[in-house]
Amino acid sequence: MNEKALDGVRILDFTHVQSGPTCTQLLAWMGADVIKVERPGEGDATRGQLRDIPGVDGLYFTMLNHNKRSVTINTKTPSGLAVLDRLIQSCDVLVENFAPGALDRMGITWERIQALNPRMIVASVKGFGPGPYEDCKVYENVAQCAGGAASTTGFDDGPPLVTGAQIGDSGTGLNLALGIVAALYQRTRSGRGQKVLAPMQDAVLNLCRVKLRDQQRLARTHTLHEYPQYPDGRFGEAVPRAGNASGGGQPGSILKCKGWETDPNAYIYFITQAAVWPAVCKVIGEPGWMDDEAYATPQARLLHLGPIFRRIEKWTMTKDKFEAMEILNQYDIPCGPILSMKEIAEEPALRATGTIVEVDHPTRGKYLSVGNPIKMSDSPTEVTRSPLLGEHTDEVLGQLGFSPDEVAAMRAEGAI
Ligand code: COA
Repeated sequence: MNEKALDGVRILDFTHVQSGPTCTQLLAWMGADVIKVERPGEGDATRGQLRDIPGVDGLYFTMLNHNKRSVTINTKTPSGLAVLDRLIQSCDVLVENFAPGALDRMGITWERIQALNPRMIVASVKGFGPGPYEDCKVYENVAQCAGGAASTTGFDDGPPLVTGAQIGDSGTGLNLALGIVAALYQRTRSGRGQKVLAPMQDAVLNLCRVKLRDQQRLARTHTLHEYPQYPDGRFGEAVPRAGNASGGGQPGSILKCKGWETDPNAYIYFITQAAVWPAVCKVIGEPGWMDDEAYATPQARLLHLGPIFRRIEKWTMTKDKFEAMEILNQYDIPCGPILSMKEIAEEPALRATGTIVEVDHPTRGKYLSVGNPIKMSDSPTEVTRSPLLGEHTDEVLGQLGFSPDEVAAMRAEGAI
């Protein structure tokens, strides 16, 4: 086993569903010893959700809990709490994403944790930070809606839209992981733990930063030239939905490719980057556009983006998305195929880098998962399967100093 970045860090993982587990999974991939605490009998709700094989942990669970150990503890029993106390004393970080107040209701207050282990970092995901909604339970799509993503996603003539990317859950998990490693680093100097909070609304808004940029531009100029509403449509008071228009200064759009009539993913994203405009004109067979006043400058083109992309699409429709990609890449024209999940699952390059991994599981057999998206040259990731419910209870309790008789007694009273 190679040395890992977080070797020696022990995490008391009280997370469930998606946001928290993505955070602790990343930490486990970076070498932390992650001990997942679950309720006896049922465990993390995702073990039983969206099951594709009866009686077997769902992929929802297995794909979010690799490289962890599972311990069952009923924290609402005195002996369960006693086990938890010892875990708090022997871990560096407690990570949780319970509903607001749940940890306090268990009796695990910040004061209690501080008394047991002043070096402990307590890291939480909540739906909202302090404010009117701080007591609300939150799932992914609520965060997308409250964080500004839904109101700015979709088409002008349609309703707000949530995205398939789990920016509220997995996005917040990333923020929390960064907060934890920063707090661990600060602790090397201060000797103290601290609280780390990553609210989901804030995480989504952070990813929607360019839309807050546009809100202020709109308020000042009453228009947004790179949006599809310009020049013919009307702008209201809030940033409108921009369809597939590029969020940056280089206009782009999703265009049909050969086969679009039957294949829902026969499309390409095409960016008319200013630097390669002459090449775009050449490839699509409009050399006259290079010098034509209406098209020659980026400013002039903003008035004609609709017709420009329709003309480019006439060309992309003559090629399949991979052929188009190959031709456009020869001219350094930024573009990307719309890849289906099926195509991504079969992509050899993603397998080679460990971003798509095949994992073997004792009751499920082989399945695909997304590996560590962060690559470190001196801290390689080896993805190992998710634990069965309570698989490591005896092992961990033994390490905490409980005797086999004590463990048996706790099991008999339903505390573990
Ligand atoms: N032993 C005993 N009780 C346990 C336990 C254990 N090992 N683990 C959990 N529980 C109890 C909790 O104490 C809580 O009890 P309480 O309501 O009496 O305080 C109860 O289980 C339910 O926990 P809760 O977090 O409220 O789960 P939920 O299923 O009702 O809500 C969420 C799920 C995700 C909505 C909620 O946890 C939440 O809002 N989390 C913060 C935001 C978040 O992370 N959302 C994204 C999830 S992907």
